Amino acid sequence: MKKKFYITTPLYYVNARPHIGHSYTNIASDCIARYKRLKGYQVFFLTGTDEHGQKVAQAAGAQNLSPKDFTDRIVPGFIKVWKDLSISYDDFIRTTEKRHHDAVAEVLNILFKKKDIYLGKYEGFYCTPCETFWTDAQVVKGNLCPDCQRPVDKISEENYFFKMSKYQSWLIKHIKSHSDFILPLSRRNEILSFLENPLSDLCVSRPKQRLSWGIPLPFSQGHITYVWFDALINYISAAGFFFDKKRFKNLWPADMHIIGKDILRHHAVYWPIMLHALELALPKTIFAHGWWKLDNVKMSKSRGNIVDPEVVISAYGRDVFRYFLLREVPFGLDGTYSEKALVGRLNSDLANDLGNLLNRTLTMVEKYFQGVAPKPDNGDSFDKALTQQAKELPQKYSQAMERLQFGLALDAIWSVINAANKYIEDSKPWELSKQKNTTKLRAVVYNLLGVLRTVAILVYPFIPASSLKIFKQLGLGIEPDRETFKSLLSAKAFPSGTKINKGQPLFPRIV
Ligand code: MSP
Repeated sequence: MKKKFYITTPLYYVNARPHIGHSYTNIASDCIARYKRLKGYQVFFLTGTDEHGQKVAQAAGAQNLSPKDFTDRIVPGFIKVWKDLSISYDDFIRTTEKRHHDAVAEVLNILFKKKDIYLGKYEGFYCTPCETFWTDAQVVKGNLCPDCQRPVDKISEENYFFKMSKYQSWLIKHIKSHSDFILPLSRRNEILSFLENPLSDLCVSRPKQRLSWGIPLPFSQGHITYVWFDALINYISAAGFFFDKKRFKNLWPADMHIIGKDILRHHAVYWPIMLHALELALPKTIFAHGWWKLDNVKMSKSRGNIVDPEVVISAYGRDVFRYFLLREVPFGLDGTYSEKALVGRLNSDLANDLGNLLNRTLTMVEKYFQGVAPKPDNGDSFDKALTQQAKELPQKYSQAMERLQFGLALDAIWSVINAANKYIEDSKPWELSKQKNTTKLRAVVYNLLGVLRTVAILVYPFIPASSLKIFKQLGLGIEPDRETFKSLLSAKAFPSGTKINKGQPLFPRIV
């Protein structure tokens, strides 16, 4: 039986259309999901939308729509962007679905029965853009949110609280004894230092008079569940916590939650405590990546400084966008988005290096071998440097991918691509042809085809549509899968006699 790998993205608020920040999380998660499928895992990849709460209710009100009508209009836009970006999710959950609603009610009932949820009085502040409660001591001078620096609202009301404080020392111990639980390390340290101060209990409700858009508490219909408490539960509700116990047993715990660093505390403090109180296992890894910024300010819907992924896709293509985001900035750090840098990557890495290698190689197959992959004699030591490098590549690549070091994995692939381009310059096939040195010519072209096959498989998680095009042009009409990946490790060679299919250049240069 295949080993499962359950990976999730955050559920995006639907108060506006998705921007490249959201795309980044989903592209990275998709890259991991595709890589794990190549490695033979049974992947369950979950994404979706977070539809309740004040922020969404306000956005609906501004358009004179009911929140449900509003979210029904916005959600297809998310689904379309994910399709346009080749996001290969297995499930899409909306927090307005029954399966989710039932799971939230079940969680609340369990915790209320256990007395981990109790009635109390909430006095403090609320930041609507962040959907987060803040205490007197936390707000910044002038009643500003300590996270986003925008004005907070003062509130005083009867509410239900979740006893987080009870579990604080357990959580610290768990984090300290599980080195992969919060990644990267800097984020783990951030959470540990946050936990040096006493943890307040979490307010998990809002009075219905003030906010009716959400899931009512099953034991107090006059209160609506706090949107974060509601949304976090998606990771178990989609896995079948309420509606399919068998599916849940197979899938839970999640192997990886991919999130942005803005929502680290919710995922690395609230969520593990909720799960522990429910006596459920914890996710194995929570990885918080950095932000894409424009002019040094975080890109966000509420600030309005966003780049629309659909615009980038239609100008440059989905794979160029995916490649740029995963190549440009080490996963975990912040990056600055720039169209100029994207075009630079397209022209150099994709068009010049990869595109040219494919094009030159296939031109040679056509010109010297009537479009059929040649059968080599034994290569000589001249070829060894390249073939050896290509042979070692899958191992190097896997090491980087296991650590989510996308940039390093791509570096490793590109060093082989560059070596292959240099191999063409050094071996001068046009002269070999003139000299009628067909033994050597066969070896050179054959080795290049082998490198291209390896590259096509390994770039698949990053640029899936282009990977399939390379496969097609090489005459290998298959989609990369576990077997093709395994065949790289066993150094199974390119099938001689294959009729190639040279097509349009993969990545036309932008001038
Ligand atoms: N609805 C909550 C998450 C609930 S998860 C149970 C939420 N939604 S959000 O729409 O604001 O999306 C937050 C996520 O979008 C971030 O954690 C990150 O993954 C992604 N990004 C949003 N803006 C971003 C950037 N500017 N840069 C990189 N990623 C960003 O929070």
